[in-house]
Amino acid sequence: SSSALWGGRFEGGPSDALAALSKSTHFDWRLAPYDIAGSKAHATVLERAGLLTPSELAAMLDGLDRLAADVASGAFAPAPDDEDVHTALERGLIERVGADLGGKLRAGRSRNDQVATLFRMYLRESARTVSGLVLDVVDALVAQASAQFGVAMPGRTHLQHAQPVLLSHHLLAHAWALLRDVDRLRDWDRRTDSSPYGGGALAGSSLGLDPLFVAQELGFSTSAENSIDGTASRDFVAEAAFVFAMIGIDVSRIAEEIILWATKEFSFVTLDDAWSTGSSIMPQKKNPDIAELARGKAGRLVGNLSGLLTTLKALPLAYNRDLQEDKEPVFDSVDTLTVLLPAFTGLVATLRFAPDRLEELAPQGFSLATDVAEWLVREGVPFRSAHEIAGACVRACEARGLELWELSDADLVEISPSLTPGVRSVLSVAGSLASRSARGGTAPERVREQLAAVQDAVAAG
Ligand code: ARG
Repeated sequence: SSSALWGGRFEGGPSDALAALSKSTHFDWRLAPYDIAGSKAHATVLERAGLLTPSELAAMLDGLDRLAADVASGAFAPAPDDEDVHTALERGLIERVGADLGGKLRAGRSRNDQVATLFRMYLRESARTVSGLVLDVVDALVAQASAQFGVAMPGRTHLQHAQPVLLSHHLLAHAWALLRDVDRLRDWDRRTDSSPYGGGALAGSSLGLDPLFVAQELGFSTSAENSIDGTASRDFVAEAAFVFAMIGIDVSRIAEEIILWATKEFSFVTLDDAWSTGSSIMPQKKNPDIAELARGKAGRLVGNLSGLLTTLKALPLAYNRDLQEDKEPVFDSVDTLTVLLPAFTGLVATLRFAPDRLEELAPQGFSLATDVAEWLVREGVPFRSAHEIAGACVRACEARGLELWELSDADLVEISPSLTPGVRSVLSVAGSLASRSARGGTAPERVREQLAAVQDAVAAG
């Protein structure tokens, strides 16, 4: 085919079936703006190495700018014969500046170092976008935690009532997980901040080009130490896909709770009309589709990660064409989070909690039994006995259909002489919450501090 970058040693063009298999423009076209930026930087180092005259450089940069504008407007698009984004853009450049000049740009570079660089540029920018969208979810959690400050809820382990906690404490637990994901992307960016451009096919450039200059032009602080590693490593892709999957999983854990909380049985939250859906047959339905899609998309994000790792497994150095399979999964992860996270933010931001219901359930299921045991410990009872005594209180209540605080003073001393009326100070949700005042605990004063710490982290994000 006319635009191929490698026709010289071949007698004819590729078979149609090979061309169809090989083609990647339908997904790598999103790298076009980065490829053109790379070409401009590359043209500049060609001129600095004496391989283009200053006027050739000016004409080349002008042609690349016009090409970029045509790509942006859609006036220039890949043709059926273009193998990949790099092929299409070389054709576009030659159409604009002629084959004599356009044909000079490819000196000293390969699609291998090009694509490894562009993909890093694309992912670094995408990761910043995704981080911003994750911080929007955190903002929504913080706004709810702040609006609902003081409301207690049943804290659960094994999905069973465990101990009362502040709803804000629970919501902020999700916020911390998401803040770590943002931190992971920041950390990943530091490792990805190295440009492979100049590595050529694998061995480096012989033409006196300056990879560090190109790197800096493209927003990297350094260039690859090793041209083989630069062109053939894709751990930066896998690591990004992992963080994207982790974001999906962290969001899906919130989603699952919202789905439960919105059931008739829980009745902890009502979903806003604009952020829930109806049923085509059951008129009464209000469904948590956003949360369910979040749960579903998490599976897709994990699939993208495992597909990538499978592609990379046991690939010998250096570049292999298998690596063309590295893009679609992570493009899909970026696209998935880009549609999911704004919807999820809206869902969280508009949840209407039922504080009375949460408060009513907070002490039920004997969730204050630990407080009884710990009160006894503070009275000098060994924890082993305290645990037994508190357990006996639960057993007595279960037999008589009572809650712990409904036991009379006489009932209590009968269970154990250590259970003086002083125990009533912890037989309330407020008493229980206030007692958990060590760092990281659910006491209101600690959760206030946490709220401020999360807000600081978001502001620094
Ligand atoms: N489209 C390829 C990729 O995405 C880059 C082209 C490298 N082709 C080659 N024959 N070395 O990995």
